[in-house]
Formats: sequence, C-alpha cells, structure tokens
Amino acid sequence: MAEIKRRDFLGMTLGGVTAVGAITSLVAMKKTWDPLPSVVSAGFTTVDISGIKEGEFFQSEWRGKPIYIIRKTSDEGFDPKRDFKINDSVFTLGIQICTHLGCIPIFHPDLKEFLCPCHGGKFTIDGINIKGTPPPRPFDIPPFKVDGTKIVFGEVGVEYQTMIGKA
Ligand code: FES
Repeated sequence: MAEIKRRDFLGMTLGGVTAVGAITSLVAMKKTWDPLPSVVSAGFTTVDISGIKEGEFFQSEWRGKPIYIIRKTSDEGFDPKRDFKINDSVFTLGIQICTHLGCIPIFHPDLKEFLCPCHGGKFTIDGINIKGTPPPRPFDIPPFKVDGTKIVFGEVGVEYQTMIGKA
C-alpha cells in the first residue's frame, strides 16, 4: 500500500515538473515569436492631412509600400466604400500598387485617373479598376485610423471598417 502511494507521489511529481517545463518552454517560444517593440512601431505611418488642399494628391509609404491620399473636390462625389470624411472634407486613399502585376500607377490629376505604365491599366480617382483594362480589382485599402487631423496607417479605425463593410 505504502509502495503504491510512493509510486503515485513520484508520478505526480514527475507530471508536475513536466507541465512546468512545458509551460516555461511555451512562454519562451512566444517571447521569441513576438515582434520587438521597435518592429511593432515601425509598422505604423502617421500622416498629418491638415495641410492637404482640395484636389491635392499626397503620397507616402507604409511598410515599404507606396500609399496615397487624395482630398477630393466637391464635384468628385463620395463613395462610402472608398472614401471617408473628416468634417466636410472627403478623402480617398489606397495602396498605389497595380492589382494586375504590381507596377506603380501614376495619378493624373487632369484625368482624375491612375494610369499604369506597364500594360495600360487604369483606375478611377477612388482606386477602382476601369473595366477593359488589365487590373482585376481595385487598389487595396491599407488599415488606417483617423486621429484628429492625422491618419495612422497600420491601425484599424472605424472609417476603415466602414469602408470595408465591417463596421
Ligand atoms: S501591372 Fe499595371 S496594368 Fe499590368
């Protein structure tokens, strides 16, 4: 009887040591996989849009990708899937990479279109691919958050969620 109890005790002790070891290993693995704080902060791009005038195109970079912001004029309409408002100003934005084969289309303010030099792809001012040209879909919209007069790319805000239909 005493022998069985001793065996049980040894078994429980060994099991406990194994469990602690496994948990310690998992914690160490998680720490290894988590990005460093400097890497996390590098994933954000903040743009102050207070200086962007009506009709102006602004380009920046987020995670190595070209991104753009356009403050639309009052006659350019409002597309809730592609635009958002700050007070009465309408802005549109996107990742300026052609959805055909990845070239960087150029915005032509006179035409209010993006033209891709590679194979003639065209996008509207809202970044929607124009039928009959090679790009199969609109520009991607990067996650963003409106913070006063600033846009923080890399964070998810209500304007972004509304545009992608998740708000
Ligand atoms: S990469 Fe833009 S049209 Fe082909």
